[in-house]
Amino acid sequence: MPSIKPLDTPDSLDATTAMMHKRLHGIVPDFEIALKAELAWKINQLKKEKNAVILGHNYMEPALYHSVPDYTGDSLQLSAISAQTDAAIIVFCGVWFMGETAKILNPERMVLVPSDKAGCSLAEGITSADVLRLRQQFPGAPVVTYVNTYAEVKAESDYCCTSGNALKVLKYLFDEGHDRVIFLPDEYLARNTAAGLGATYVNGSDPNAVAPTGGRTVIGWSVRCEVHELFTPDDVRQLRRQYPDAIILAHPECSPEVVALVDVTGSTKDMVDYVAKVDAPRYALLTECSMGDNIAAQFPHREMVRACSLRCKHMNLITLEDTLAALENEQYPVQLSPDVIARARQPIDRMLQLR
Ligand code: 13P
Ligand code: SF4
Repeated sequence: MPSIKPLDTPDSLDATTAMMHKRLHGIVPDFEIALKAELAWKINQLKKEKNAVILGHNYMEPALYHSVPDYTGDSLQLSAISAQTDAAIIVFCGVWFMGETAKILNPERMVLVPSDKAGCSLAEGITSADVLRLRQQFPGAPVVTYVNTYAEVKAESDYCCTSGNALKVLKYLFDEGHDRVIFLPDEYLARNTAAGLGATYVNGSDPNAVAPTGGRTVIGWSVRCEVHELFTPDDVRQLRRQYPDAIILAHPECSPEVVALVDVTGSTKDMVDYVAKVDAPRYALLTECSMGDNIAAQFPHREMVRACSLRCKHMNLITLEDTLAALENEQYPVQLSPDVIARARQPIDRMLQLR
């Protein structure tokens, strides 16, 4: 198993309740902890009985996040962990494409996602036919797909990456001598990554787009995260006026205009690490709101500005109730054709190598 240690799983209802009180004090009201502890206790018992491992993305709601996952993290960390598990069942408390990635890495294991409706606006915004069309339009350019895509799209790509290693993967390809890289589908992540590498951005959604000659070019797609695209430069300016001492952190799925105004940009893991390491009067996170709650619970002495008007409706579909049902009924299993698994595996392996 990976070097990250699994979280403790208490072995009685009382111990589960006590653990949740300790971790969630001031974040989740006591009456809710009492209700949720019972669900968490049942989930943890079933998990042991069925030899399952639970992976929880950083966006999970705080009571779930702090009670049942054996491992928590960002997309990259959880993919790496899923590649090393020896559990019979992987329950992925995250969205569907994350479960697919775990399945591609574990074709012989059962991978369950607690909701079969937990999508993602990025993954839904591109198809394998789009990738094939781009390959024709920009012959010879390697295709990098963001992990927030479905397996059929990954199967048509050369490399995969997350927001945690996008810069590294694209830099690697430019250093290898490619002057054009196709990077799909998040327009903002592609533009932010291009800016970080001094590359020109070209919108590949335009069938007539041409890449300039000379220099480095990132060819993107015009799809955005329905949550992060809503943060505006004005939001950042207002935050600064209201909380002049706050460090503002944004996910790179935010627009380049927002990214230019904040203090720190990075994957959800980068944000957790930053708050853990850097002592500041307070922090404001421009990302799914549960992250702020989870960090506040983990670091009770750190003050978080709560900005919760924007939520990911897909991530929020994953509840403790559904996680229990997932284990009880073995639902919803990720099923992919052997051909797609075989073709999507190489880009994912490359993503894990270039961490
Ligand atoms: P991370 O890879 O940073 O965990 O982000 C996943 C995601 O869906 C962000 O919206
Ligand atoms: Fe997809 Fe955005 Fe939700 Fe992340 S926050 S899962 S990118 S819709």
